[in-house]
Parts: sequence; C-alpha cells; structure tokens
Amino acid sequence: MESNCGNCAALKVQEETLKILENYPREKDKLVAILNDVQERFGYVPQQAQEEISKYLNVPMAEIYGVITFYSRFTLKPKGKYNISVCMGTACFVKGSQAILDRVKDRLKIEKAGDVTADGKFSYDDVRCVGACGLAPVFMINDEVYGNATVKMLDEAIDKYSKESEE
Ligand code: FES
Repeated sequence: MESNCGNCAALKVQEETLKILENYPREKDKLVAILNDVQERFGYVPQQAQEEISKYLNVPMAEIYGVITFYSRFTLKPKGKYNISVCMGTACFVKGSQAILDRVKDRLKIEKAGDVTADGKFSYDDVRCVGACGLAPVFMINDEVYGNATVKMLDEAIDKYSKESEE
C-alpha cells in the first residue's frame, strides 16, 4: 500500500498536520506558530496542510496564502537539499549582495527564487536582513552563515556542496 499509492503523500501530510494542530487551540492568532511547525516538519507548507489549517482555525485559504507569502521563512514548495539564502537587506545590498545573487542564479541556472535545480540539490531565495549586518554581505547555505561574502566564496561553497551531494 505504501508504494504506488497516489494519495499516500497527501494522507501523510494530513496526518502529520493534524498532529501539529492538536498542540494548538482553535485560535486564529496561532496561525503563524502553526505555520512555523509545518514549515519545520515538511521543509515547506504543503497545500494539504494549508487546507487542514484552514478548516481547523476557520481561516480562509487566501488568508493563509497571504501569511505564507508575507514571511520569507515560509515556502510553498520544497527547497533543494542545499538552500542558498542571499541577504538583500540594506546593509548587505550596499556592500554588494546583488553580485552574489546574480552569481547564484548564474551557477544554478535558476531564474526564480524558490525554484529548485532539476537534480533537487540546490534552491535559492533572497531574504531580508538575517541579523548579521556586521558581517555584510551575507549569504547562508541551510543554517550555515557566510559573512563578508564574495562571489569566490560562493563559488567555493557551491563546488563543495555539489561534490558532497554526489557521494
Ligand atoms: S542586511 Fe544583511 S544581515 Fe542585515
């Protein structure tokens, strides 16, 4: 039943989301906290999870979508194994983060933030201040912060993770 079950993934998301919802009262102001848990659990906020949250809190889907797209930490699609976040906050922008972002797009051949390379290894997003302005410009790969970043540093990091994920 596990394999060849078209609905299994959706059922699993539903089941896991219901478990998360059990920890919360049916109060609308818990929406962001619930979305945080869902994002952490799945690495994104699946459609099925949005539907369950909508029913549970009695909040329209459009409102949930609005909250997800407002906060850069929430995503609607799964990220790559290595997600590169380029800080485009003011301090980083002034110090040249655009060149880093351009290089990410160039290296990964991804035009849009949130998309994933065909092999699923990499994705990228552009984020607002990550709270490390003293190290500007900054990019992150998953949770690892690269400060005083340069295009060369980015190239080396991408090379390193490209190799690692081949092993
Ligand atoms: S603006 Fe980039 S860390 Fe603050």
